[in-house]
Amino acid sequence: MTSRRPTIGVFDSGFGGLTVLKALLELIPAADYLYFGDTARLPYGSKSVETVARYAVEAAHYLESHGAQFLVIACNTATALALDRITAAAHVPIVGVVEPGAEAASTVSINRKVVVIGTEATVGSHAYRRALETRGLDTREKACPLLVPLVEEGWVDHPVTEQVARIYLNEAFSDGFREADVLLLGCTHYPLLKPLLQCVAPPHVNIVDSAESTAHAVATHMQNLLPPPKPTPEERRATPRLRFFATDSVEKFRRLGERFLGHSIDNVEHVDLKE
Ligand code: DGL
Repeated sequence: MTSRRPTIGVFDSGFGGLTVLKALLELIPAADYLYFGDTARLPYGSKSVETVARYAVEAAHYLESHGAQFLVIACNTATALALDRITAAAHVPIVGVVEPGAEAASTVSINRKVVVIGTEATVGSHAYRRALETRGLDTREKACPLLVPLVEEGWVDHPVTEQVARIYLNEAFSDGFREADVLLLGCTHYPLLKPLLQCVAPPHVNIVDSAESTAHAVATHMQNLLPPPKPTPEERRATPRLRFFATDSVEKFRRLGERFLGHSIDNVEHVDLKE
């Protein structure tokens, strides 16, 4: 890519990070994007810190070697378990999803009690709890491992998904957290469940999506870190160039990815990362 516009690399374990890319495209259209989905090795949400860190560092290097000047770790699990390791291994600025999500929750919460939902690994790392408690928020974390496969099945408004979500949220919004006023979505897949979760969560609860807050954090960081060269007006108006890399089937990435991105996906290239 020979553009004066910045090139942003977005990394996720698979398709879910496309919800973050979608938010980025809306907020920062005057950029080019490289998206890496490690579909052959997902899910990350049930893997160890060592494994997730190794995979994520490989993906970050891949994106850098293809011209990414800025990296967004769209995967909550990779951010929660390995942001420090990825940052140490990379040579470009990096934003993860945990801090922006926690900051947005802190802005919205009035009674300073938050429920955060995510994968087993994200919840087990307590990265969200640390980020929220630093901001003075009482936090309950709840792992919701069944939600990722249900979203990937396309069951975003299915009665089974509603029942599963109800069980998880009833457990989370109980005892001392009945009055928690924010539900923080700590997983790439959950933004697709926002309408369903809004129906299932107690009525006073606001849903905070770390995809949107991350896009805002990236916009702010980029203004500070990558000022020159400024895109020309023509470059600014041009539609973003998108290039996708997937470690598993290109066809499956196109098919499933459309649901997360909200439009059709071209330019998917298969990547074979050696172990
Ligand atoms: N991308 C992961 C996350 O946001 C969910 C899917 C997975 O477990 O790999 O935590």
